[in-house]
This record gives sequence, C-alpha cells and structure tokens, in this order.
Amino acid sequence: MSVKRLFVSLLLCPSLVGAAITNNVTTSANIPGLFVDGVCVDCPRFDGVGAISGGGATSRLLVDYPPDVQAEILDFLFLPNFGASLHILKVEIGGDSYSTDGSESSHMHSQDDLNLSRGYEWWLLKEAKKRNPHILTYGLPWAFPGWVTDDVKNPFQHIDRLTNYTLQWVKGAKEVHGIDIDYLGIWNERGTNREYVLAMRKVLDASGFNNVRLVVNDGQPKDLCPLMVNDTEYINTADILGFHYPNDKSGVWPICSSFDTPIWASEESSSYDDLNGAACWARVMASHYVLNNMTGNIMWNLVGSYAHGTGWYASSMLTAVQPWSGYYEWEQMPVVWATAHYTQFAFPGWRYMPVGKGSGELAQGGYYMTLVSPDQKYFTVIVVKISREHAPCTRPRLWNWSTQDEVFQITVDLPILSEADEDSADGETQTWYSNLEQEDTVLFQKLDNPGVLSRVSSFVKSSKLGVRSYDISLNVTAGSVFTVTNLMQAGNKGTAKVRNKPDARFPLPYYDDFNSYQCDNCYSKYLSDQMGAFEIHFIDDGNTDKNGELWQRRALVQSAPQVPVGWQGTTKNGPMTVVGMTEWEDVGLQVSFRLPDPGTFVCISTRTDQFWSNGVSMCANTSSWFLVYGGAPMAGFDTKAAIAHGTLPASLRQDYWHILGLSTQGHQVEASVNGDVVVGKDDVSIRVGDSGFVALGASAYAAVQFGHIHIEPVGPNWAVSNPSPTTQAGATWSMQLGLCTANGLTTDAERFEVTSNWQIKHLASGLCVTVVNETMHDFNSNQGVQLTLQKCVHDNRAQRFWHDYTWLRNDRLMSLQNDSGDLCATRDGKVSLTVKTPNVTCAGTEDAFLSWALYPNTQQLRNTFGYDPSAGGRAQCLGAVQAKESDEDEFLVETI
Ligand SMILES: *[C@@H]1O[C@H](CO)[C@@H](O)[C@H](O)[C@H]1NC(C)=O
Ligand SMILES: *[C@@H]1O[C@H](CO)[C@@H](O)[C@H](O)[C@H]1NC(C)=O
Ligand SMILES: *[C@@H]1O[C@H](CO)[C@@H](O)[C@H](O)[C@H]1NC(C)=O
Ligand SMILES: *[C@@H]1O[C@H](CO)[C@@H](O)[C@H](O)[C@H]1NC(C)=O
Ligand SMILES: *[C@@H]1O[C@H](CO)[C@@H](O)[C@H](O)[C@H]1NC(C)=O
Ligand SMILES: *[C@@H]1O[C@H](CO)[C@@H](O)[C@H](O)[C@H]1NC(C)=O
Ligand SMILES: *[C@@H]1O[C@H](CO)[C@@H](O)[C@H](O)[C@H]1NC(C)=O
Ligand SMILES: *[C@@H]1O[C@H](CO)[C@@H](O)[C@H](O)[C@H]1NC(C)=O
Ligand SMILES: *[C@@H]1O[C@H](CO)[C@@H](O)[C@H](O)[C@H]1NC(C)=O
Repeated sequence: MSVKRLFVSLLLCPSLVGAAITNNVTTSANIPGLFVDGVCVDCPRFDGVGAISGGGATSRLLVDYPPDVQAEILDFLFLPNFGASLHILKVEIGGDSYSTDGSESSHMHSQDDLNLSRGYEWWLLKEAKKRNPHILTYGLPWAFPGWVTDDVKNPFQHIDRLTNYTLQWVKGAKEVHGIDIDYLGIWNERGTNREYVLAMRKVLDASGFNNVRLVVNDGQPKDLCPLMVNDTEYINTADILGFHYPNDKSGVWPICSSFDTPIWASEESSSYDDLNGAACWARVMASHYVLNNMTGNIMWNLVGSYAHGTGWYASSMLTAVQPWSGYYEWEQMPVVWATAHYTQFAFPGWRYMPVGKGSGELAQGGYYMTLVSPDQKYFTVIVVKISREHAPCTRPRLWNWSTQDEVFQITVDLPILSEADEDSADGETQTWYSNLEQEDTVLFQKLDNPGVLSRVSSFVKSSKLGVRSYDISLNVTAGSVFTVTNLMQAGNKGTAKVRNKPDARFPLPYYDDFNSYQCDNCYSKYLSDQMGAFEIHFIDDGNTDKNGELWQRRALVQSAPQVPVGWQGTTKNGPMTVVGMTEWEDVGLQVSFRLPDPGTFVCISTRTDQFWSNGVSMCANTSSWFLVYGGAPMAGFDTKAAIAHGTLPASLRQDYWHILGLSTQGHQVEASVNGDVVVGKDDVSIRVGDSGFVALGASAYAAVQFGHIHIEPVGPNWAVSNPSPTTQAGATWSMQLGLCTANGLTTDAERFEVTSNWQIKHLASGLCVTVVNETMHDFNSNQGVQLTLQKCVHDNRAQRFWHDYTWLRNDRLMSLQNDSGDLCATRDGKVSLTVKTPNVTCAGTEDAFLSWALYPNTQQLRNTFGYDPSAGGRAQCLGAVQAKESDEDEFLVETI
C-alpha cells in the first residue's frame, strides 16, 4: 500500500507543486460495527503519552528554580487540560553514575545503606501526582551502585541482590512517598536478563506489588523479540515490550507483534525542542501506531534542565536552564503543544480504531487515527502531515516519502446506547490546529471559525439505526496537526506569565559554603554531578581548620563508596561534579576540602567538560600535588603528562580542612595549596582552546568532603564593547571568522539564530545569511562564493542551510549545507561557500573549517566544540560585518 502511495505521489509530484487539492481521502470509523457488547477485540488499548525525567539528571536545575516559576513549569508538564498534560512520568532509578547529562544518586549507595529521600525524582513524582492523581509512573535504572555485583559490566550477576535493590525502590515509593509504581523497566539500553525478569516478577508478587507491570527491554527490538520466540514464560512475564527510537520500517515487527503483547516506544525523540522537534514527535506518535500498532509513546526528555555542554542540550518538552534568573523558554513551547494534541483529548484506556477502520495513512503523506472512549460516547480524530524536510528525529534515519496538501474526510459513527444519550447528542465538535512548518506558525489553536480548514459538514442522528454520525472534512496542508473531538470539556491552552529573556550567563562571583541547606542527603544548588554522588551531609566530627577552630557544619560529600555499574564510560576518571558554562576560560577557583584517606586526590578544575577529559585540574592528596589537563584518572597520574607536579612541604592532615586554589587566564595558570603558591603565573604556560565548566572531584570513589566553593572572574576578558549595528543606506553585509568573545560574553556581530526553516539569522540586523550568486567565485583571489545578509524569506533556497538541528547544538560539529555547497571558513577569517558544481573548495584552500557548533547561551556559531587540537588555539566564531559598497570597508559592527 505504501509502495503504491509513493508511486502515485511521485507521478503527481511535478504538476502538483503549488496546485490546489486534488486528492481526498474518505474513510469511516464505524464504532458500532466494531464494538460487540461494548468490547472491540481489534482496537488496541491506548496506553498514553509520557516523558522521561532522568537518564540522566535532566531535571537537575529545575529543582533550583524560584517556587512560582517552578510551579508554572510543572503545570505545563503535568496539569490536565493545561499543557503537555502527560499521562505517564518515567523516572530514573538513580545509580550514582553518568547516564547522559549527569549522575543521579542511588537509594542504596551500599548494601547496608537505604535512603529514600535522595535526589529529585521522588519530589517530581509527587508534584506530578499532585497535579494529576491518575498519572502513571514508571521507574528504570541506567546505572547501579557497584555493590549489586562483582563485575561492573554485569549487574545481573547476583539476581537476589538486584531484585532486592529494585524492590526497595518500589517499596520506598509506596511506603515513604505514597506513590504506586505502575511500570518498572530492567536496565536502560544495556541489555535485559531473562532470569532477572522472571525473578523480579516473583519478588514483586510476593511483596504485594502484583500491579507493577514489567517493561522489557528499553532497548532495540532486534535484541529481544527473536530471543523471546517460543519462550512463553518470558513472553508472559513481559507486560509491555518497550523499545527505543523504534524504526517503523524495521523487519523485526512481525516477530514482536506475534507475542500479542503491547508495544511501546518507551523512549522517543531526543530531538531539539524547536518546531522541527515538535514535528518529529507529533509524527512518530501517529506513525508508530498506524504502521506498527505501538500503543504508548514516551519522550526523552521531560524538561531540559541541564547545562549546555552536557549531552543533548534542550532535547526536551520544554527548556528551563536558568534557575538563577528564573527564566525558562516559555515563549513558544512547540513540543508541549504538539503533545497537547494527543494528551488533552484521549486518555489511557481509550481505544484506537484499527488501521483501515478509522486510522491509517493519508493518501498524500501523513497519518490519521481515531480514538474512542471506553463508554463509546466520545471520539477524537488526530491527523498529522509533516513534510520530510521537517520530519527527522535524531534517530532512526528517515525513509523517503513526499507530502502534498489534501482534503481528508472521515465519517465517525458512534452508537446511541441509551435514550439519555440520544437526547444529549447534538453533533457538537471542536477542532484544534497547529502548523509546525508554515511561515506563520500556529500552535494549538482552537478553530472557533474553522472555515475552509475544518468543518463538520453534516451530523446525522438516527435512533432507528442507533447511530450518530459525524462527517468531518479537513484541509490538511504540510505541517498540519489537527485534533477533532466531540469531548467538549477538553482542550485548553494554558498561558505562561510573560518573562523577560535575560542574558544567559551564570552569575559570578559565586560562593557557597553549604551551611545554609536544611537537609541531609540533598543536592547543593547548581552543582551537577557527572559521576558519583555529591550530597550535602551534616558533619559532626572534628569540624576544625588547622587552628583547631570549628567552622564547618555541613559539607558536600562524595557519597558513592565504590565504582558503580556504569551506563557509559565510568572506569577511567573518578567522581566529579560541574557548575558554570561551556564558554568559561578565565576563572579563579578556591575550594576547601578534607581528605578521606592518604591516597585519594582531591581535584578542582576550570575549562573542563562533562567527561573531565579536557580543561585544567589541580589535585592534591596528603603528600603530593598534580596540575594536569583533564581530570583525575582512577589508575593514577602519569607524571610525564602532567603540566607540573610536586610534593607538599608539609603533609595534609586528614582531620583538617585545607584549601586548593586554581586560576586560569589565557596562557597563564596559578595554583595554590593552603594559600601557598605551588605554580606561579610565570612558571608554566598552558595551552589555550580549552573552555568549560568548573569542576570538583576526586581520583577515587571515596568520601571526599568539600567545605566551600568560590568562583570569580579573572583578567580583563569579562567586558565587551558591543556597539549596536546601524544599517546604513547603500551598505552591505559580509561574513567573517574571528576569535570568539570568551567567558560567556558575546557581541552583536556574533549572535545568530539557526531557525527551524534552516536559516542562519543574524540577530542584531534581523537578516539572514544568503548565498549571493553561486556561480560568482573568484578562485584566483581566494574569495570563494560570496555570502551576505539579506532580508529573511521563508523557504528561500539561497538562505537554506541544512543541518542536524539537534547535534548542531551539542558536541558534534555539523556542516551547514546549502543546495550549492557548505558554509566554510579559512583560518585567516574568510567565510564563503564551497561549491559542488563546479568543484570549488573553500576560498581555494583545503585547509578550512567546514563544520560548526551552535552555542545557545552566547548564540555563537563556533568552529570547535571544546578543546580541539586541530583548531590550533581558541575557538573562532562566525561574524557579520557591515561595509559600504566602496573600496574602503567601514566596519559598523565591531568584530571579534
Ligand atoms: C475533494 O474535496 C473537496 C472538498 O470537499 C471537493 O470540493 C473536491 O471536489 C474533492 N476532490 C476530489 C478529487 O474528490
Ligand atoms: C494490532 O493490534 C490489534 C489488537 O490487539 C490486532 O488485532 C492487530 O492484529 C494488530 N495488528 C498488527 C499489524 O499487529
Ligand atoms: C533487602 O534489602 C534490605 C534493605 O537493605 C535489607 O534489610 C534486607 O535484608 C534485604 N533482603 C534480602 C533478602 O537481601
Ligand atoms: C518455535 O517453535 C516452532 C514450533 O515448535 C518451531 O518450528 C520454530 O523453529 C521455533 N522457533 C524458534 C526460533 O525456536
Ligand atoms: C531517498 O532518496 C534519496 C534522494 O533521491 C536517495 O539518494 C536515497 O537513496 C533514497 N533512500 C531510500 C532509502 O530510498
Ligand atoms: C486549504 O488551505 C490552504 C492554505 O490555507 C488554502 O490555500 C486552500 O484554498 C485550502 N483548500 C481548501 C480546499 O479549502
Ligand atoms: C535519609 O535522608 C533523610 C532526609 O534527607 C535524612 O533525614 C536521614 O537521616 C537519611 N537517612 C539515612 C539512613 O541516612
Ligand atoms: C551570477 O553570476 C554570473 C556570472 O557573473 C551571471 O552570469 C549570472 O547572471 C548571475 N546570476 C544571478 C542569478 O544573478
Ligand atoms: C574537488 O577538488 C579537490 C581538489 O581541488 C579534490 O581533492 C576533490 O576530490 C574534488 N572533489 C570532487 C567531488 O571532484
């Protein structure tokens, strides 16, 4: 069927561009014909739409928001009939180890430790339940504390330990927090274990948790379904088959479907939260059902409350990363509104109409589904048409299709089951509409006067037939999402308080002595653990400095006692936590600490990344110190690779508090122990090109204590002259590459927005990067194909630069591809376009930068992400320069 559709659309394609609608689908959802005695055997149960907090630490900064803003954000996520109005909240069961954006504390750091107050997932579950008591809950571990096994690569070695560990979490949810866990997963994306699944079922049942349903395997279907064939015990124990980023065109689905077990996309999207991310999510929620009968969809992730520079920036329902200012991205929230099209009008327990009988593919690309309430009184029709160029999710790769505008007509027949029903049935419906692609974006708008967009052309009620019949007709253009329903009390677009968008910088100087926290086992503000568990603890022994004075009541303590079963890469460096910005370079840091044992090194770092692989660290144990690039390897420091190292004149006593200092500015570094400078400004020169977070950490999973942290800006590069660009008559714009403004500052020349329509928009001028004339290149004078800034025009080919809209904002450099060639720059600052035909390199040189990273806080387009030896120094940024069309260039915008 899809082959035929593709064939038809290819044939029609050339003549259809811009033409009127020629191809209509007419279908019907004949509910009385499907339900027999109130039961429809062919109509899969709708299991709901959800989102994931964790996997990992994705909600970290939400905790630190001012209470009124935090409540508003939680309302947009969970409150029924308000925003995303989620049906399912899936949370990480913390495992003390990195799980994408950081690490979340385990409820059992060791076998004899149990604390059911750690982290923020309990809090979040309770906030969600407060707003929607019916919200379904789902727990899944990414990592585990090391004690559950003897082999950090295999948590299933001692099944009894692991079942008890998981049971303690389910029990704690109920007994301590009053939360029933509805679904429980096995191990995120790292494999399942038949024996554990069967054992977990028995343990749950024996403890009265018969209602907890098991989701297997939170990974790929090819790694599960073929193994399950003929294994009825395993099949019967798996209540849900939960797959990640399921590929609708995979050949494995017939095997998975043969078990007659509900299939979910138990992790989906991971796509940046702009209109394209919303289009991805709206599309897959429909395609997964229509093509593969999947009945639940859960988005990663719930809220983007993790710093840029940790993985997958803002691949979220909504983004809230500035607790210090209280700003969150309330203005558009396209993913929230794409979700609302589903969640506000259908609920777990409703039924999907089968494909061909109320659900299916649109003739000209797209999907429709009819859902019906269990009492058969209400229906909801959802129609989604996303063109291929706005459809990609982060994964899997898209198959080919084309879309054309079309009129979609559907007749929905509902039964009249009682006289009261007959009296009340009045044919009323409502239509909600979004368009995620067209120039004038529409987000979740109720069509008060549907006009040509949507109409219920006739409503027929016949008690003789026992049917009320709705004829619905929709004008479905590319980018459309429609919801039509007779559930009149549903549907509401909650409004956000208007908030100014402040500068995104983390505020400096920053100081915290951890004494003001009225809690134990909790997190300190802003610090985001990447490995291990840094928790506030009351310190009741020997709180003295070297003069014997009591000065510390609470401290930040690394509380994971051994190397965890990691989800990814946990065996090289020791535990660490970060704070600040990816752009920081010139900062001074002072931290007090106590050593847990003579051997473990305590480290403080600047300019570092979430894996502690770059940046500069100053580390000390009782007798020696190391100044190194990167973090503290658990295997010990390589003296040859150290920037500097030495022994301490007087060894550091374990029971005293000590202070480490580290300051980096350009090529200069200064490091001190208890105020004594061990590396002076002129002693060594450090490389430039590192930028990033401040970090605290250790070389081992030991109970290192931190007493205070103080971060301050150092050096002159904390102010910019940033004249406003004035557009002068007769002046034109050109592009340049220059050193990026450092430290989270930025200039008008450097600030660009990359739009969901694939434009590169210069914010200060409001103009878009435009290919002047692809055939005009002066190879001999090394000018390349010229670019300028021009008025932004939607869908203008000369302004369209394709890219992966998610990775571009993260740690992989991406090319920006115009139809004619790629945006490129030479080392000496020329920005142009490579050209495919004829084969023109970047301004005539092969030695050029062809890929880019967008830094969302400074809105810089950089040629590196973090430290990159091949970039040969500090990051360079795209800049816009205004020049008169005379020989003499006049720079109206100060460039970088
Ligand atoms: C499609 O539907 C529209 C609106 O109902 C109608 O005007 C048009 O004739 C139909 N076209 C075809 C080819 O059926
Ligand atoms: C989808 O689910 C329904 C109801 O469970 C079933 O009747 C139908 O055969 C399934 N379709 C496929 C393609 O698996
Ligand atoms: C399970 O863990 C709890 C909490 O640590 C402990 O009290 C109990 O003895 C354990 N049970 C088994 C069977 O290991
Ligand atoms: C499953 O069982 C059937 C019937 O006994 C057999 O033909 C088939 O080969 C088995 N498949 C697998 C994968 O074991
Ligand atoms: C999709 O279309 C592109 C461009 O026409 C082609 O290169 C590619 O091979 C096609 N992919 C598939 C899976 O058909
Ligand atoms: C469908 O909507 C488009 C865009 O608003 C409009 O141009 C077109 O006339 C409409 N078609 C019909 C059949 O109403
Ligand atoms: C667990 O955490 C709570 C609250 O933070 C704290 O009061 C309690 O002492 C902790 N329990 C244990 C056993 O550490
Ligand atoms: C581009 O430049 C070439 C060579 O100068 C010229 O022939 C052509 O007309 C120009 N095209 C446009 C669209 O301006
Ligand atoms: C383009 O030219 C460069 C050298 O100028 C060559 O290395 C490259 O292979 C050429 N590419 C194509 C596609 O011809």
